[in-house]
Amino acid sequence: MIGPKAIIHLDSLIHNYQLIKEKVQNKRVMAVVKANAYGHGAVPVAKALESVGVDWFGVFTPEEGIALRQGGVSGNILVFCRFNRQFLPKAMEWNLTLNITSEDDLMDLKEFHTATGSSPAVHVKIDTGMTRLGLPVEAVSSFFKLLKETPNVQCEGIYSHFATADEGDPEYAKHQLEQFEEVLKIAGQMGFTFEHIHLSNSGSVLNLPESFFTLVRVGLLLYGAFPSDEVPKDLPIEPVMEFTAPVVNLRKVNAGTLVSYGGVWSAPHDTVIGVVQVGFADGFPRSWYEEGCISLKGERYKIAGRVCMDQFTVDFFNANVKAGDEVLLFGKNKTDSILIEEISESIGSTPYVLFTAIGGRTKYIFKGL
Ligand SMILES: Cc1ncc(COP(=O)(O)O)c(C=O)c1O
Repeated sequence: MIGPKAIIHLDSLIHNYQLIKEKVQNKRVMAVVKANAYGHGAVPVAKALESVGVDWFGVFTPEEGIALRQGGVSGNILVFCRFNRQFLPKAMEWNLTLNITSEDDLMDLKEFHTATGSSPAVHVKIDTGMTRLGLPVEAVSSFFKLLKETPNVQCEGIYSHFATADEGDPEYAKHQLEQFEEVLKIAGQMGFTFEHIHLSNSGSVLNLPESFFTLVRVGLLLYGAFPSDEVPKDLPIEPVMEFTAPVVNLRKVNAGTLVSYGGVWSAPHDTVIGVVQVGFADGFPRSWYEEGCISLKGERYKIAGRVCMDQFTVDFFNANVKAGDEVLLFGKNKTDSILIEEISESIGSTPYVLFTAIGGRTKYIFKGL
């Protein structure tokens, strides 16, 4: 098929993992592979990481966890989404660890265990300040009391999630860390120990080593991007995705010719307009046309006019270009790199948003293992 390609450099993924592993003082790493590994391909990414010793994977839905199992992933899988008793049979069948956030969830597990003689492993999620999912800190004593009375529930882990770990000011993240430590203290006083204790994400890997505990959950850094430019960018990570698309048409136009929807771009000189076959339906950011560029053979060329659903236009001027040439949209190839952070900063987005938009008609090619 002619169209966009996501070349996934699994050797760069492993390189990033090794840097992170060293940075977190050899703590266990949970690779966050939800949302198709942030657009990178969940099964090949998880299997590559599993081959170098990663034994925890974070997904959002049970279906994402089942897809990993069907693809041959055997490590532990934690499902982040809100617990629902309907998940229990599938969680048992596919050996998924669920997260629980309330006493009602404990009661559902207890009932399931009474009915079937078993129940899946769970981690309890504490809300230390994200105010999304999680057991409120004020409710932990009562929850732990009930947990004591339900010995069949296998609560193997406890965790929380930072709201601001990628921001320059660490104050709120430190407050969340203190809240979490307070909860661990209460748990300890009530006789609980947890095999897995986790709080850290990419931002705090870079700026809050006190938050590492027994396991760190990392997504974005693994894929070779920094969560913001407020964190120390002192890990030499490499982009994992090289996103490319072909030039499918070239045409000479005179200065003043209007190009693409709205006619908002007019050729500043006699030039050659190339059509590149990838559009916003493939995840290419529509708003990247004003400052936007692509790279061909190590040279950058400006996007000319609005990005369309399936294609966009480039001012190739006097480039050495022919139909069929592949241009670099973002990532790194042998001659250039366009970092996803450069695009996201320019258009007021984030690498998370841009990566997870990739998919659809994109052809995935996995290289480097
Ligand atoms: C619960 C949870 N943990 C960890 C992560 C990983 O975050 P990051 O990609 O910033 O490392 C996410 C991502 O959103 C998440 O939802």
